[in-house]
Amino acid sequence: MSSSVLERAALALSGARTVLIVTGAGVSAESGIPTFRGAGGLWEGFRAEELATPGAFADNPERVWRWYRWRRRICLQSEPNPAHLSIAEMEPAFDAFQVATQNVDGLHRQAGSRNIVELHGCIHRSRCTGCGEVRDLPDEIDADDAPLPACRRCGKMLRPHIVWFGETYQPGVLESAQAAAEAADFVLVAGTSASVWPPIAVALHGQRTGAYLVDVNPDTTSLSDRADAHLTGAAGAILPALWERARSLR
Ligand code: OAD
Repeated sequence: MSSSVLERAALALSGARTVLIVTGAGVSAESGIPTFRGAGGLWEGFRAEELATPGAFADNPERVWRWYRWRRRICLQSEPNPAHLSIAEMEPAFDAFQVATQNVDGLHRQAGSRNIVELHGCIHRSRCTGCGEVRDLPDEIDADDAPLPACRRCGKMLRPHIVWFGETYQPGVLESAQAAAEAADFVLVAGTSASVWPPIAVALHGQRTGAYLVDVNPDTTSLSDRADAHLTGAAGAILPALWERARSLR
């Protein structure tokens, strides 16, 4: 990446009033949380697409819960990294600022971001398959030998409060990100392979309606070439550098 690409992106960020940040698993990689599609993305030989589906849960809820318990334990042991922290630092500097994250780990909140839309749900919450009640998961469920969690209200099985392949987004969630994209004059996407389309469509909608679009990823994805700037590298290095430069230009 040439320094002029970073400079152009920093200039665009420095002049922006409304910002949307779209994040994916790569933003939490430096916190020690495995991404879905890179090295280490498999769990017990399964891909995310084989576990994160209503069919997989119906066939084998124990296995799906074991996967989420494993992921949740890692999330609970993880801390926000410089990428999360820079994003949280930026927020008060703009008139409007939203983080629309595909991540379910809660690290943006932990880092201090406030206006967050969790597009794919939250690993620390469950939803009842019977009555639909959403609540925080109790710590007891994390034990390897814990029974399948049941609803305290109706006794039916709980499931992770996460959007699975083949499911629709929770009402209002995508609409909120879409509205933020439309209002934004700067959209930054970081740490996503762009394999799941709705969050990418939101970012591209922002670009179509006038925003400067930046992609932060060490690899090239289908989004990178469409972005106005592709900042090649790790989010934990790029985001602090981008924000430091943008702040100095404001
Ligand atoms: P992926 O695992 O598909 O992609 C992670 C991306 O992060 C890759 O493009 C990597 O190159 C990039 N990456 C790795 N390390 C990075 C770093 N330090 N800084 C920046 N980028 C880095 O993850 P997502 O695109 O988030 O859905 O996956 C999208 C959805 O698919 C997930 O939300 C999940 C999954 O199935 C659900 O759970 C519903």
